[in-house]
Amino acid sequence: MRRKLVAGNWKMHGTLAENTALLASVVAGAQGLNCDLAVCVPFPYLAQAQLALSGTPVHLGAQNLSEHAKGAYTGEVSASMLKDFACAFVIIGHSERRSLYGETDAMVAAKFVAAQAAGLTPILCVGESLQERESGVTEAVVARQLDAVIAVAGIAAFARAVVAYEPVWAIGTGLTATPAQAQAVHAFIRARLAQHDAIVAAGVVIQYGGSMKPSNAAELLSQPDIDGGLIGGAALVADDFLAICRAA
Ligand code: 13P
Repeated sequence: MRRKLVAGNWKMHGTLAENTALLASVVAGAQGLNCDLAVCVPFPYLAQAQLALSGTPVHLGAQNLSEHAKGAYTGEVSASMLKDFACAFVIIGHSERRSLYGETDAMVAAKFVAAQAAGLTPILCVGESLQERESGVTEAVVARQLDAVIAVAGIAAFARAVVAYEPVWAIGTGLTATPAQAQAVHAFIRARLAQHDAIVAAGVVIQYGGSMKPSNAAELLSQPDIDGGLIGGAALVADDFLAICRAA
């Protein structure tokens, strides 16, 4: 039985003062919830979040990492550095990284491997743009993104990974995939993994991300292949984030 995972992706938001309040509220509201919880914070706030979350049920995550283990890579952050701050998760291949920072499928696969090599659980983001959806290539795009990682990391690696389906057109736009639209792609992702290993596919947590909020979370999360959420804007408001966690 898959356990639902709700993760906040704070993106490039927060201050020390704002984070103190948000983390305290999330921790206070996390007690007794029947799902896994994580917050993925900006790098400079890892130490702050580590301290605030230590000994609580809320896991810590980061939003990106280098594919390299160490070396002359100015401005980059390695997987082992994230482990140093007790990160459990790291988001890999978010559409903003792919589209704004030129991350290719090959780079995403290398980052996925680097994360796992350090004992982090990658949250691998996949999803189509509006133009791709409208031209009917959603499944082809998602398959290509998945296959690139399977080819490099192997299917067994997905026993230690999370997949997040994030239709690009639903991110930060207020447009949400309908539960049926999302479920169809989630089922496709699971089936694609099952072509390689049915047991791994049945166990992998597949989150939905894209304008998930308290008002639509319960219906999305009740779909058979939707195992949680990767939450952007609503994760910055403790009450909203916790409402989504309760729906899970
Ligand atoms: P929003 O929830 O703000 O649409 O962002 C989703 C997202 O990109 C999470 O990674």
